[in-house]
Amino acid sequence: MQQLLVTGGAGFIGANFVRYVVQQHPDVNVTVLDKLTYAGNRANLADVLGSQVTLIVGDICDGPLVDRLVQQTDAIVHFAAESHNDRALIDPWPFMQTNIIGTYTLIQAAAKYHKRFHHVSTDEVYGDLPLADDSAEKFKPDSRYQPSSPYAASKASSDMLVRAWVRSFGLQATISNCSNNYGPYQYVEKFIPRQITNIISGIRPKLYGNGQNVRDWIQTADHSTAVWAILTRGRIGETYLIGADGEQTNQAVLEQILTIMGQPASAYDLVRDRPGHDRRYAIDATKLRTELGWRPQYTDFRQGLAATIDWYRTNQSWWQPVKQTVEDGYAKHGQ
Ligand code: NAD
Ligand code: DAU
Repeated sequence: MQQLLVTGGAGFIGANFVRYVVQQHPDVNVTVLDKLTYAGNRANLADVLGSQVTLIVGDICDGPLVDRLVQQTDAIVHFAAESHNDRALIDPWPFMQTNIIGTYTLIQAAAKYHKRFHHVSTDEVYGDLPLADDSAEKFKPDSRYQPSSPYAASKASSDMLVRAWVRSFGLQATISNCSNNYGPYQYVEKFIPRQITNIISGIRPKLYGNGQNVRDWIQTADHSTAVWAILTRGRIGETYLIGADGEQTNQAVLEQILTIMGQPASAYDLVRDRPGHDRRYAIDATKLRTELGWRPQYTDFRQGLAATIDWYRTNQSWWQPVKQTVEDGYAKHGQ
């Protein structure tokens, strides 16, 4: 594989993945296709753009553009998406367009030119689990799809399209469903960067509902190595779940952020809950571990969190220009 097309490579996880490829696979040339929505940022790739990485600003729903780029590549890793639940609850349309029609546009081209396709999806397609006190259940690759939010439903739809194209058109595809990522370059609307940048800005952190919802955190560098393992060694037509056994309540995550940043652990506000708020996500990554030998490198969450806090402290010019707009948006909805 010499040419890789990475959609959404100027977003949080995509940019970290591109950086991983540059560092670990210098023989692979990367073309990033990214629309540069509010979540995409050329600066996320600034240090790697050059002979090995090219950025094409464009839409994955643009059929002729996608056809041309897919024809020229050996494989596609598809990260591009509208990705934020709170936005999907206010205006679901961009999620339907990008996540469903965009994926359809890409797989049509990938099937036409017989190109390897890896679809990056989310654990939210499986809905939610009872809180850990009541159940030790985790998501498995064959768990039932029961998405609860417009975002999750749009991602579930895209997964179904990929599965159907594998069966009906011989698409050479794999799917991964990963849990919550954290790390550098995450847009400040998401939970962890929002709270870190709130504290730096002198704003009290905001916890939805009672703070007892559970997320299964993984450092985004570990997501990158998992995607690479699946892309290069995964079985066609298979779904792999990616997770690093990082379950935490939102309250516990926030208290750790506050303590690491030298604040009292109780210095936050409880705010209006997210409608339909999924209770708990938890990943069983046995298939990925046993079949492909993948292991996460970031197994100490507190350490990973501290490094992420350092990144946001050091890179204030990256997030300061959008911080007020994001907070104004949340304030309108009592969050
Ligand atoms: P993000 O919102 O940070 O980045 C998305 C990127 O896609 C941006 O660069 C944006 O400009 C681009 N994009 C959006 N619409 C586009 C379009 N129509 N055409 C081309 N580019 C477009 O998202 P993220 O958090 O980096 O998530 C990346 C992928 O990983 C998504 O598919 C998401 O569903 C999945 N995922 C995310 C997480 C997480 O915790 N963030 C966990 C599991 C899976
Ligand atoms: O599980 C994978 C998913 O993780 C990805 O598919 C999504 O793209 C990604 O955004 C993430 O979804 P969540 O909705 O879990 O992430 P978010 O960062 O928005 O919220 C994490 C938890 O924190 C969730 O329970 C809601 C809560 N929350 C969020 C914000 C922004 C708060 O308590 N306060 C906040 O200010």
